[in-house]
Amino acid sequence: MNYIGIDLGTSSIKGLLVTEKGKILNEASYMYDVSYPAPNYSEQNPEDWIAGLKYVLNKLCDNVRNTIGGISFGGQMHGLVILDENDKVIRPCILWNDGRTEEETKYLNEVIGKKKLSDLTANIAFAGFTAPKLLWLAKNEPENFKRINKIMLPKDYLVYYLTGKFVSDYSDASGTLFFDVKNKKWSNEMCDICGIKPSQLPQLCSGLDVVGKVKEKFNLPNAIVSAGAGDNAAAAIGTGTIFDGSCNISLGTSGTVFISSDKFAVDKNNSLHSFAHTTGKFSLMGCILSAASANKWWLEDILSTDDYSGSVRGMEEKLGENTIYFLPYLSGERSPHNDVNARGAFVGLAINSRRQEMSLAVLEGVSFALRDCVEIARKEGVVIPKSTLCGGGAKSSLWQKILANVLNMDICLLETEQGPSYGGAMLAMVANKEYATIEDAVNELVKVRKVIKPDPAIVEKYEKKYQTFKQIYPNLKDIYKIL
Ligand code: XUL
Repeated sequence: MNYIGIDLGTSSIKGLLVTEKGKILNEASYMYDVSYPAPNYSEQNPEDWIAGLKYVLNKLCDNVRNTIGGISFGGQMHGLVILDENDKVIRPCILWNDGRTEEETKYLNEVIGKKKLSDLTANIAFAGFTAPKLLWLAKNEPENFKRINKIMLPKDYLVYYLTGKFVSDYSDASGTLFFDVKNKKWSNEMCDICGIKPSQLPQLCSGLDVVGKVKEKFNLPNAIVSAGAGDNAAAAIGTGTIFDGSCNISLGTSGTVFISSDKFAVDKNNSLHSFAHTTGKFSLMGCILSAASANKWWLEDILSTDDYSGSVRGMEEKLGENTIYFLPYLSGERSPHNDVNARGAFVGLAINSRRQEMSLAVLEGVSFALRDCVEIARKEGVVIPKSTLCGGGAKSSLWQKILANVLNMDICLLETEQGPSYGGAMLAMVANKEYATIEDAVNELVKVRKVIKPDPAIVEKYEKKYQTFKQIYPNLKDIYKIL
C-alpha cells in the first residue's frame, strides 16, 4: 500500500506519497502566510491549513485513491487553536514563535514557580508554549476565552477535520505545559492554574494509534489516520532518531536539536524541553526560533535574491576565519535565552566587509545558536558524537560543513531530508501494521547516504569564534530591553 505523510509547517504544508518500502512516489506543497499583526505577534488562519491539506491530498491521491493505506502527520508545535461549541475556529492560531505572552510566562515561571511547573509538566514556561497563551487570552480577549469548547494543537485540527476525532498525541501534548510528561496525562493542576477544564483538551493517545478512518466524503476508502506527532518528534522518526542518545538537527523555520532518550530526564535549569517521544520513550530538545528562516530573510527579504549558493560562493575556503558575527534572534529567542525581546544583530562589520562574509555569518550564527543547545545537553553528560540533519537548510553543503565543525560532530546525511513528512508516513505505516514496530520501520526505511566529518583545524578556529559569539548576547541583552 501507499502512505501519506503530512508536514504542517509554518511556511507551507508539505505532503509525501510513499510506498510501504519507503520509495517516494510524489510530493506536493502549498504555501501560506504568517501574519504579524503587532510586535511579537505571530498568527495563522487554520482554514489556510485546511485549504493546503485539501490541495496536497488531491495532488497526491489523484489516480491512486484506493492504494492509500494511511495518513499521518508531523505538525508545528505549541500553536493555540480554539473552537466554539459549533466547532467554529474562534480566532487565528497563536503560533509557536509568538512572543506576546512575556507577562504570562513570567507569572508562570516566577509566581507559580519553575520548580512547580517542572514537577507538574517536566518543563518551565516559554512564551511560545500553549498554557501562557490561554492566560493571555483570558485577560486580553475574555469574550473569546469564554467561548472555548475545544483546545487543540495545529495538526490535531487536521486530524479532527479528516476523522471527526478530538485527539492529540503525547509528543505534541508535551509542548502545551498542560501535560505531565513523566506520567503521560493532562495535569489537572496546570488546567486549574490557567483557568481551563481538562474536558476542553483532546483525548491523549500515542502517535501510532489509529484514530479512525478518513471520513467517507474524502474518498480514500482504505486510509486510516494515525494521531501523528509534533514536527520534531515526527522528524526524529523520519531520520531514525529513536535510539538512546541519538540526535537529529532540523534546519527549518525553527532550528532544533532533538535527542532521543530511553529515560525520563530534566536538565538542571529546564533549558531544554523534556518531552515524550513517539517511540513511547522521551526526548530532550533545544529550539531556536529562526534557522533556515534567518537565511531566507537575509537573502530574499534583504538582498532580494534567490541565489542561495551564489551568496556564499568562495566562502568554503574561509571556514573559521570570518570576522563578522550574526545573532539570529529575529523573532526573539527560546533556547537557551528565553527572551522575547532578543533581536538579530550583525557584529564586527568593517569598511571592507563583503556581502559573502555577511551571508556566511548568517549560516554560522544559526550554527552557534544551535551549539548553545548542544552545550546544555553536553553539560548534563549527554555525549553526542553524531547527528542526522533535516529541513530545508539541510540541502546546503556549506551549512552541513559549518555544522560539523562548529558542533565538532559527524553530520549524517540521509537519503531523504524530509524529516517530518517522511516520519509522518512511517507512523501511518506502523499504525496500519506494515511494520510491527517503529524500530523495524526505521531499520528498513532510513538510510545514511553520506557522513560529513569535522576537520580538526577548522574545529579549533570555530571553537574560538564560538567563545566570542557566546559573549555577544549578554552584552546586548539590556539594549534589547530598550529596543
Ligand atoms: C518546537 C518548536 C518548533 C515548531 C516549528 O518546540 O516550537 O520547532 O514546532 O515547527
